Amino acid sequence: MIKVQVPATSANMGPGFDTMGVALSLYNTLSVVETEKDVVVEILGEKPQRLLNPKHHLIVETIDKLFQLAGKERNGLHLVCDNVVPFARGLGSSSAAIVSGLFAGNALLGNIFSEDDLIKIATEIEGHPDNVVPAICGGFTIACLTAQGVRHVKCAIPEEIQAIVAIPDFKLSTAKARAALPEAVPMKDAVFNMSRTAMVVAAALQGDFALWGEMMEDKLHQPYRFPLIPGADKVIAGAKDAGAISCVLSGAGPTMIAWVDNGKSIAVSEAMKQGFTAAGISCETKILTVDNQGAKILP
Ligand code: HSE
Repeated sequence: MIKVQVPATSANMGPGFDTMGVALSLYNTLSVVETEKDVVVEILGEKPQRLLNPKHHLIVETIDKLFQLAGKERNGLHLVCDNVVPFARGLGSSSAAIVSGLFAGNALLGNIFSEDDLIKIATEIEGHPDNVVPAICGGFTIACLTAQGVRHVKCAIPEEIQAIVAIPDFKLSTAKARAALPEAVPMKDAVFNMSRTAMVVAAALQGDFALWGEMMEDKLHQPYRFPLIPGADKVIAGAKDAGAISCVLSGAGPTMIAWVDNGKSIAVSEAMKQGFTAAGISCETKILTVDNQGAKILP
């Protein structure tokens, strides 16, 4: 049996739209056994209806794509997906599915694909690299699409930096959240984000996490998405008042993520919950850390 563990991820980190991301200590696990024929998929935990047909299952499609690229025929498969990462909430559930399929498929093929190959294939399937790169590599990552492929840099984040996620009780598809974005943005907003993205990266590399959080401001995507997320403004204000160094949209939302470097995670978590509650939205909060390892095959 092949068993793969893949972390949840939070993309954008404020200003780094489609570029920066982080792996979190929340995991999906996939077990795969080869069989004589057919594909059977069992799903534990998070169980969106559209995932139940094995013919249109993202993990199966990803394994098939890898076999196709390798020019190999696959056997039947029995998959057990233990899904913990919530679906369509901005925590990288589709990247977790793609990466688990790639790791399992690569193991079935005798690990013929390198990490860079898997990053390239995952990015092609997902459409942008900011979730799949941290899901594969772990840590805080910066990724860039070039003519040569996906270039990336990883920076480990210490355990004392905590991530508090507030996951509201409604789904928001990435497609809908991307449709809210404008075709063009003012030059001054682009400069605002460029300067902050560079500062977030520099601060992480210097280990200055107060500056890291302070610089997570954005004008390229959050202002256009907040109307889709009732209470987002209250969650941010509450988290910062309670001591968070920053609070931003996780990926395309609707989850909000706050960063804490001072042990005030419980107070921040309560404040975020109150922010959503004040807007009539119930939510679940989790106190997490950064997973610095990324996807792995379990023994
Ligand atoms: N960078 C992506 C977005 C992440 O914000 O749309 C969501 O998958």
